[in-house]
Amino acid sequence: MASVLFPVLVVCVLIDIKGTVHNPYFGFLIYLILGPLFLISLILLIIGATISRGKEDIGLFTFEYIEEQFARPGRYSRIRRHIILTFVISLITLFLVALVSYTGFHYTESASFCGQFCHQAMEPAYATHQNSPHSRISCVQCHIGKSSQWLTKSKFSGVRQLFAVLFDSYPRPIPQPITSLRPERGTCEECHRPEMFHGDKLYVKDLFLPDENNTHVQTALLMKIGSGGYLGRKAHGIHWHVSEDHPVFYRHTDAEQEKIVQVWLQDGDQEKHFTVTEGKQPFLPEGSPLGSVRQMDCMDCHNRPTHVFRSPDEALDEKLITNAIPRTIPFIKRQGLLAITAQYDSVEAAFQSISRSLKDWYQANYPDVIAHDPPLLDKAIAAIQQAYAQNVFPEMNVTWGTYSDFIGHRDGSGCFRCHDGLHYGQNGEAISNDCNLCHIILAENEKSPDVIALLRKANTR
Ligand code: HEC
Ligand code: HEC
Ligand code: HEC
Ligand code: HEC
Ligand code: HEC
Repeated sequence: MASVLFPVLVVCVLIDIKGTVHNPYFGFLIYLILGPLFLISLILLIIGATISRGKEDIGLFTFEYIEEQFARPGRYSRIRRHIILTFVISLITLFLVALVSYTGFHYTESASFCGQFCHQAMEPAYATHQNSPHSRISCVQCHIGKSSQWLTKSKFSGVRQLFAVLFDSYPRPIPQPITSLRPERGTCEECHRPEMFHGDKLYVKDLFLPDENNTHVQTALLMKIGSGGYLGRKAHGIHWHVSEDHPVFYRHTDAEQEKIVQVWLQDGDQEKHFTVTEGKQPFLPEGSPLGSVRQMDCMDCHNRPTHVFRSPDEALDEKLITNAIPRTIPFIKRQGLLAITAQYDSVEAAFQSISRSLKDWYQANYPDVIAHDPPLLDKAIAAIQQAYAQNVFPEMNVTWGTYSDFIGHRDGSGCFRCHDGLHYGQNGEAISNDCNLCHIILAENEKSPDVIALLRKANTR
């Protein structure tokens, strides 16, 4: 076993280090099957050697015996050669075992192992990760913290997950928020330091209207990014919530952390409480348990820093801005939206239907578009299919809107879970929902907004 596995392993490890094979199962084969088998064969070899018939001969192999073989010149040169050979082979084996353990450990930490090995279960998470600002960071850099408890936690959780995949018992979709391996604040702060942020930042969003010309409009917000407070600067703006000086706690009565009934914080000696009130009485939904308490951290707003599932509008706008969907095709935004928001049982069915419905519609309504430049519509169709496949995963029951994003206030969620003007403090004032608290709206869905023209002009002067 050892002598067959040995050369196979050497060749496989070399190929893997060169990076010529990209199949995720290749790493699995080397590090989680061949590697352990090789270790087992070595253990068997040792056990076999110690309990086998030739025990006495091996017993002879003591340090004195070896010394004696080398001390007398010309004696038993065959044995001497064997000793040297054994020594060299042992060294190479040790090196191989170390190499396989080391690269094997790294392999189980790679995005390819986490994201592609359990292909179906992790597909939505992997696809969105690949399409995000964090695509160069591996999964474990966020999902597994640095301390030693995390290592055991992650391995236990990993074994549980492996069984869930083997017995096909994992939930579809994987519910949010996740209960184990949720990133913790310290993990984000390895790279980001919100206490050092300061001031406001211009956010410009490009959108396209569902009209004949797919009109390009822009929304511009001056976002009050703020800071968590640093070197005597006071915490302010959006990142005020993460200041060490006044941790914010909240109580939620549902698993999704959407229904927040109480918020409180200790600011110096001042204690602030905010409760959802109905009439003047503190209000907890009837029959609800008291709920769970959480200290606010990054994930209460940035729950989708990397698994960003776009809305149908955003998914198409992203393709229109780069002209992957040619903007010159009349009504392509509207028709694209109709095509990607329909219900499909599988990605293949979706692709076929998107292609067919768009071709039929343009053939019937704009035959000259197809006649004039046939590849134009094909290009649009390919990008629309991609917009679908990057955000909808029928096998995992993940469709548009399955996962809510807590950044902003889509559908009254996110910031408006607390900033809805219904969470009143002791002094009768509610957590603010003033439209200028978090951002100043400079332009909303405007064609060539003045403010952007002004900034561009200032720039070129
Ligand atoms: C930038 C940090 C970051 C990286 C990198 C990252 N994740 Fe996540 N992941 C998160 C956060 C934050 C959540 C949401 C946690 C919550 O809501 O409880 C999450 C949630 C998930 C979920 C639950 C489903 C969901 O979308 O809420 C899965 C599965 C997952 N991640 C897998 C992966 C895999 C696989 C990779 C690597 C390909 C990866 N993650 C990389 C931060 C990250
Ligand atoms: C290993 C380093 C690293 C870790 C850990 C990390 N990030 Fe990032 N993050 C980055 C880098 C680098 C960028 C910039 C990417 C770019 O601009 O293309 C970024 C970008 C961002 C952005 C801006 C995204 C945008 O659309 O421009 C946010 C928000 C963010 N990270 C939040 C988080 C949160 C929350 C966590 C913890 C769950 C986290 N990051 C963990 C390195 C990291
Ligand atoms: C109260 C909600 C909230 C909390 C808590 C929060 N953030 Fe943010 N963060 C925002 C918003 C809102 C923005 C700007 C809008 C956007 O990125 O879409 C932002 C922007 C950022 C950016 C991009 C900044 C830039 O200059 O573009 C990073 C990085 C970031 N946050 C990291 C963090 C980290 C790390 C934590 C935890 C220590 C954290 N945030 C906690 C709401 C929050
Ligand atoms: C868990 C509840 C909760 C959530 C969720 C929440 N906030 Fe807050 N926020 C508060 C509380 C409490 C205050 C302080 C209110 C007060 O003192 O009157 C506050 C204050 C603020 C302030 C004013 C800070 C200052 O300068 O004093 C800003 C800006 C803000 N929030 C932005 C946001 C944004 C943006 C989001 C969503 C990304 C968000 N908040 C989500 C609870 C929340
Ligand atoms: C508690 C903070 C907060 C308050 C209060 C708030 N917003 Fe926002 N709003 C945000 C954040 C954060 C975003 C950015 C979301 C993102 O990055 O996608 C946003 C985004 C927007 C957008 C851009 C939408 C888009 O396409 O992404 C509009 C428009 C907007 N807000 C309007 C309003 C109006 C009108 C009000 C008053 C009723 C309001 N906001 C109150 C935090 C707030």
